[in-house]
Amino acid sequence: MAMAKWPRVNTVLALKFKINLKIMPKSDYPLPPNVVCLRETNQIEALLTMIRDKTTNRGDFIFYSDRIIRLLVEEGLNHLPVVEKTVVTPTSNEFKGVGFKGKICGVSIMRAGEAMEQGLRDCCRSVRIGKILIQRDEETAQPKLYYAKLPPDIESRYVLLLDPMLATGGSAIKAIEVLLSHGVKEDKILFLNLIAAPEGIDAVTKKYSQLKLITACIDKGLDEKKYIIPGLGDFGDRYFTLP
Ligand code: URA
Repeated sequence: MAMAKWPRVNTVLALKFKINLKIMPKSDYPLPPNVVCLRETNQIEALLTMIRDKTTNRGDFIFYSDRIIRLLVEEGLNHLPVVEKTVVTPTSNEFKGVGFKGKICGVSIMRAGEAMEQGLRDCCRSVRIGKILIQRDEETAQPKLYYAKLPPDIESRYVLLLDPMLATGGSAIKAIEVLLSHGVKEDKILFLNLIAAPEGIDAVTKKYSQLKLITACIDKGLDEKKYIIPGLGDFGDRYFTLP
């Protein structure tokens, strides 16, 4: 069945204020102040269409996901502070420019977030990358931390938190708790996703208003199994295992 194109940037507002999407122009969507959605260019739309398509094979899924990841990382880096920096060019002239202020690191939420590590490495040479493994506790049904390996000086760094799919927000909130408990300042966290559900955005931003959430697109919602719809299925399976 063909899926109608969802006016994704309107979704969160529509859910919140019960507005009929058909009567709401796209540009009216007030993203929460700490959420950034990549500009809806033809390129982004085409890349997202490739990875959503269930007939896209694993090689192409990796290729097109990596391209979106690169754009997300570049956008994330745009939100880091800079300080004035003057250099001398080979023409012996001064150029008053800027340099990044502060150190960064990446933290991937395993397993799917690991797919985003190379995109970060491609932009930031020898960047440190930590990992967090969170899974659902069978007894409590709550997200539980199973493993965390983080750079020892993480509290002094900006952290690019990597997870391609933001569904309910449960794992993300747990991962953010872990970062905060290691001394990371909330306003030094940049959380990068390829696709976010309004439920996940709401859950994360209601709890954390100081971090920045950067996504390539906002989808319609979640199905009964908590998959994002229209979504793309299981990102980790499609990136790491499926043919
Ligand atoms: N994780 C995924 O890989 N896909 C979803 O739709 C939701 C969470």
